[in-house]
Amino acid sequence: MAAKFNVGLIGCGNIAPAYVKGCRGFDILNVAACADLEPARAEALAAEFAIPRACSVDDLLADPDIQIAINLTVPAVHAAVTRQALAAGKHVHSEKPLALDRADGRAILDAAEAAGLRVGCAPDTFLGGGLQTCRKLIDDGVIGTPVAASAFMMGNGPEGWHPNPFFFYQRGGGPLFDMGPYYLTALVHLLGPVARVGALTRASLPERIAGHPDHAGKRIPVEVSTHTSGLLEFASGAIGTLIISFDIFGGSSLPRIEIYGTAGTLIVPDPNTFGGPVKLRCAGDEGWEDISLTHSATVGRGIGPADMAHAIVGSRPHRASGALAYHVLDIMQAFDESSARGEHIRLTSQPAQPAPLPVGLPPGQLD
Ligand SMILES: NC(=O)c1ccc[n+]([C@@H]2O[C@H](COP(=O)([O-])OP(=O)(O)OC[C@H]3O[C@@H](n4cnc5c(N)ncnc54)[C@H](O)[C@@H]3O)[C@@H](O)[C@H]2O)c1
Repeated sequence: MAAKFNVGLIGCGNIAPAYVKGCRGFDILNVAACADLEPARAEALAAEFAIPRACSVDDLLADPDIQIAINLTVPAVHAAVTRQALAAGKHVHSEKPLALDRADGRAILDAAEAAGLRVGCAPDTFLGGGLQTCRKLIDDGVIGTPVAASAFMMGNGPEGWHPNPFFFYQRGGGPLFDMGPYYLTALVHLLGPVARVGALTRASLPERIAGHPDHAGKRIPVEVSTHTSGLLEFASGAIGTLIISFDIFGGSSLPRIEIYGTAGTLIVPDPNTFGGPVKLRCAGDEGWEDISLTHSATVGRGIGPADMAHAIVGSRPHRASGALAYHVLDIMQAFDESSARGEHIRLTSQPAQPAPLPVGLPPGQLD
């Protein structure tokens, strides 16, 4: 029988259902248990999705039949929960960010390495059909040599709809730590690691007002930057521009991500999705060509842990790795440092560009 990995979810909030459904799209994963600080949340998730076991975090981590813990807690406790799961002998896939600062991120990578365990991190959207198609076009040389990229996440913040909006404005939140990982992971996946960054940041409002019925009208103090304008120098020499903001109140018509090469321009889909559209315009073309996706777009959150499980079986690196997430954390921390100090920051982390997925995989398979 093919290897099957039992997965335990820690944190049963807003995003947990997406993971249950996403993991169930992969033959190699079995969602075996779920846990939350608030037992009623774990019990409700287990009941809704027929998960065999709802239990405490300690009981989940003590269960020898669980091999992979998926950490879906709030950012402030990501590092502590990931370390706890590693100490219990579990491989871990964490929601983003990996940690709130380099020291905690490094401690996670070191603990995993010392224990011979895998650590992975969201986002895994770059394993979806849209971003894999873009990667193939770039690797195939269709746009020539990439020279520059732009990426824009122009929003007004999630406090209007999210049932627990407070963490978005605390350390580890803000648009950079909340949405930045999607954009930065996509860019590193497409163009390789970043060598140097610069940025200016600001927070335009001192507080936000919650809109979800559970908290409607509550004031949320803003403790983080809510607008970052950043520059990225990739190790390849390409230059990126990133604006990421919760301070855009009248909307924006800027694209999500574009990659500019010596032979053409690629319009990259929203990196918070697994699908398209992908558009290409080569030098001399009259207009944009809609590109058919070369990889599946029907995958979901869970493809990262599934790739980790396949990687363990096949003794190969997993793609949504802790090292990649640490590099993204390094970039985000360096943006804030650059703005505060008024200088460029040279990065010390240089992970390998994750391998592209093969073309033509059967549904539910990754190797
Ligand atoms: N909501 C989304 O659309 C979305 C999308 C992608 C990623 N994420 C990420 O997923 C993570 C969770 O987000 P969410 O929206 O589900 O938040 P949420 O607040 O709805 O859920 C978090 C859950 O974690 C539990 N929790 C907190 N600390 C814990 C601990 N120490 N041990 C066990 N459980 C604990 C909370 O009780 C809560 O049920 C965040 O990192 C967020 O950035 C969220």
